[in-house]
Amino acid sequence: MTPPTEPLADLARFAFAEAPDLCDPAHGCCVYHRAWSTIRLLLKDGAQPAGMDFFAEGLAQAAVNGRCRVLISGAADSGVAAMVLTALAGRGITADLVVAERCATPIAQNRRFADHLGLHFELHQGDILTLDCAPVDAVVAHSFLNFLPAHLRPALVATWARLLRPGGLVLLHQKLGDLRWAPDAETLGANRARLEAQARARGIDAQTAQHIGAAGVAFWTRERPHSTTREDELNDLLAQAGLEQIRLESLGQLSVGSPSYVAGVSSNTPQSLVMARRPG
Ligand SMILES: C[S@@+](CC[C@H](N)C(=O)[O-])C[C@H]1O[C@@H](n2cnc3c(N)ncnc32)[C@H](O)[C@@H]1O
Repeated sequence: MTPPTEPLADLARFAFAEAPDLCDPAHGCCVYHRAWSTIRLLLKDGAQPAGMDFFAEGLAQAAVNGRCRVLISGAADSGVAAMVLTALAGRGITADLVVAERCATPIAQNRRFADHLGLHFELHQGDILTLDCAPVDAVVAHSFLNFLPAHLRPALVATWARLLRPGGLVLLHQKLGDLRWAPDAETLGANRARLEAQARARGIDAQTAQHIGAAGVAFWTRERPHSTTREDELNDLLAQAGLEQIRLESLGQLSVGSPSYVAGVSSNTPQSLVMARRPG
């Protein structure tokens, strides 16, 4: 099976132009959705979200008869879908993707991505807590848990458990515990200059390149959502939802290849890998 190619230049251009209209101001997500694909494209060479080997292993375990129906819980763009498709293609497994995301911008990007591949993704725009869909073999949540405030996280983990088939797996790639962020003005300025230079190198006009640079700074200095979850809290959330924890491991080092890692401006907290199973 061939791994998918993400038409990231098109998807980044689309989100940069359309997010101000598509993102709901009440969600405050425009700063994120407008810049995310552009940063992946221009500063990270199109890198997919980190954790491919972990997801490939978990998804292969969850697959049934060579197919895996995967719920992507929150998608900032099409990167997680691309990573899941790549992970499954590497194992010769056919993917059936279900994307749950409350914002119209990433939903539209995933639709464009699916069209580009000639595939169908089951797209659900709305609050994942109210999602109803046919059971899935696996839930993939990449850096999503902490997007919901702490009092809603029990309902989120219960939603994952409700949507999984018996025996299905939850796979999280997630920062747990304290997040340390301290971008200084000089580092921000240097990364803004890199973004603008990369944009101009792609033939983007100087004024748009400046807007892209400003959007990058807005992204890196955005207000971070809510508190994070500690390992012991996550254990409790999984147990309350009736999920059996199979693995909870903090990675010893930063995922520097990840699109969210930009030296000097991202959090210095390593990611954790979490695998849990719905009994049955
Ligand atoms: C940090 S991003 C996820 C990162 C991501 N997995 C990636 O690398 O593509 C969080 C996403 O969750 C979405 N989101 C936040 N709350 C949500 C909710 N209650 N239901 C569905 N999506 C939600 C946001 O719109 C945002 O796109």
